[in-house]
Amino acid sequence: MLARPAALTAADYRDPARFAAERRLLARHWQFVGFSDELLEPGSWLVREIAGEPVLVQDFDGELRALRNVCSHRFARLRAGEAGTATGPLRCPYHGWTYDRDGVPVGIPGNGDCFGLDREGKRALALTRYELDRLGRFLFVRVEPGGPSLVDWLGPHATLLQALSDGMSAPFAQEAQPWAANWKVGVENVLEVYHVDAVHPDSFRTVVDGSWRVEPSGLHSVGYAGIRPEAQRWWVGAGKRLGLIPVEALAGVEGYVHLLLFPNLAIGVTAGRMMSVQTLEPTGPETFTLRYRLCLAKAREGASKAALAAVTGHLSALNSQLLSEDRAVCGEVGAGLRHVDGAALLGVNENRIRHFHDMIQAQLGGGAA
Ligand code: FES
Ligand SMILES: [Fe+2]
Repeated sequence: MLARPAALTAADYRDPARFAAERRLLARHWQFVGFSDELLEPGSWLVREIAGEPVLVQDFDGELRALRNVCSHRFARLRAGEAGTATGPLRCPYHGWTYDRDGVPVGIPGNGDCFGLDREGKRALALTRYELDRLGRFLFVRVEPGGPSLVDWLGPHATLLQALSDGMSAPFAQEAQPWAANWKVGVENVLEVYHVDAVHPDSFRTVVDGSWRVEPSGLHSVGYAGIRPEAQRWWVGAGKRLGLIPVEALAGVEGYVHLLLFPNLAIGVTAGRMMSVQTLEPTGPETFTLRYRLCLAKAREGASKAALAAVTGHLSALNSQLLSEDRAVCGEVGAGLRHVDGAALLGVNENRIRHFHDMIQAQLGGGAA
């Protein structure tokens, strides 16, 4: 028999203690939070929950900082919402404490009469600061300090990320969606193309040809799929019309390349001309947020706005369709997992999932299965 049971059992997808352990695992890894394009304006900010921590990433006069989004006084959230642009200092909406870029409360209304905090006292109340690093326009935050630098963590994939950062435009579509399954169900779903015939007959199946080659690389892994001739012709035609410059750094630029940066950042590149960046962000043992961004390769001057709108409209619709198909089937897996105890059976065409499980087990101290 070629197939073997998975390393993880159904309980590993619903047990709250396991979920807490995996959150700590996420805290130890660099997490993609967005593109620097989103934080170009002075005072622009975004908020993400990473491994249970509310993280505020904000521009302070051209310098980006990642701080805990909770006031040190009586714990109001400092920024409400997902993103925005603020003028003036970082100010708590409750009693108006203001913070500097180091997270120190430098402005405390009535300090002399009510708190009597000197410099040291204020410093002791500084917001927790998180590590923030970037590879080109890709911004990453790590909640738990220490561990490898971003470049070391990316390993051989740093070159590819830099090429994508240089070669891809700002997103033409993005969204965050709640999915009803454990986050690992979502990751596993992007690690194989076995489901494509059954789940995506009219969407992704029209793009990929069913071939699949997998390369584990440390914690991460890469999958390569061929593109069907009709899809290849479409991309060459659309590329010419829009003057797209394919990102050449990809081995297999004529195909579909899918990178998983452990544990939950998935980057798919189609024909070197479109990039999908997905983060699968755990929100509970049986829920996660799927956040995606779609980007086209940069174009030479001269493409018409109408042609660009037609291409991006088509690609957005195709992406929405295939995500709704994946979301539905992952919801079914999430529901099914409540009723079983054993481990799934993984075929050799699902070896990338086996690698993912082994890396999780090794990281959690359980050893590779
Ligand atoms: S809770 Fe922020 S100033 Fe009081
Ligand atoms: Fe899918």
